[in-house]
Amino acid sequence: MDIASSTALVTGASSGIGRAVAMALAEAGARVIGIGRNLPALRSLEEAGGVIVRQVDLEASDELQRFVQQSLPDLPSIDILVNCAGAGRFAPLTDHHPEEIDRLLALNVRAPIALTQAVLPAMRQRRRGRVVNVASIAGRLGVPNETVYSATKGALAVFSRALHAELAGTGVGVTTIYPGVVETAFFERRGAPYQRGWPRPMPPERVARAIVLAISSDRSDVVIPGWLRIPIWLQATLPGLYGRLERWFA
Ligand SMILES: NC(=O)c1ccc[n+]([C@@H]2O[C@H](COP(=O)([O-])OP(=O)(O)OC[C@H]3O[C@@H](n4cnc5c(N)ncnc54)[C@H](OP(=O)(O)O)[C@@H]3O)[C@@H](O)[C@H]2O)c1
Repeated sequence: MDIASSTALVTGASSGIGRAVAMALAEAGARVIGIGRNLPALRSLEEAGGVIVRQVDLEASDELQRFVQQSLPDLPSIDILVNCAGAGRFAPLTDHHPEEIDRLLALNVRAPIALTQAVLPAMRQRRRGRVVNVASIAGRLGVPNETVYSATKGALAVFSRALHAELAGTGVGVTTIYPGVVETAFFERRGAPYQRGWPRPMPPERVARAIVLAISSDRSDVVIPGWLRIPIWLQATLPGLYGRLERWFA
């Protein structure tokens, strides 16, 4: 896809990976609409140039619907949707409150599905478009103390892969991104800072570059860093050994 002639809608544009993606797409010449909640952060993104911003709380179904029904039709047609907004929760399952579970499901699963449904008909009609879903390695492997987060990212990843197959031959592509550890506010916000010495967190700009490359080269599946394909393979092929390594690592 030619990014320079495209309009991109990026959620989570106020922080971390989404902000880096919005800036990278704008630098590549796209017209970018960035969604977030933090107004000062959105304003500073807008001032950096090339990005129009909209404040939307994607957890609130009424606000999401209002954006889809009232704001989206007034925006230029979306060629690229990057579903990046997301949040985690680090705690044993028994410590997850029902409202937190609903919140994670609403933000990490319902919102990207609803936004995809909203932009897809026009993409299909023009036979041009790409939906990028930022899942997580947690959604592929399942991570202890992040059970609900892992489940939401697993749901998003399966949705994304199923849609990729469903849209074959339509001119609309779907990319699923599986990042490992990225240096963002994500960890503070999930309720536990990242404290491991290894793997070292990567900068969000690295993930943004991978996303831009995936869009321009029509890649459907990106694991970043690439070596994370090893634990994915190990878990699928030798689950007993993987389980022992997981306990040792924990
Ligand atoms: N960091 C990692 O190690 C890592 C690894 C794998 C996958 N991921 C995924 O990458 C994505 C981006 O996370 P990040 O690391 O960049 O974290 P981040 O810096 O905390 O960014 C999260 C983004 O999501 C937005 N967001 C959160 N709740 C929202 C809501 N209710 N409505 C609208 N926007 C909302 C935030 O907007 P406001 O700040 O304006 O509220 C922010 O822009 C997430 O989906 C995350 O699961 C992260």
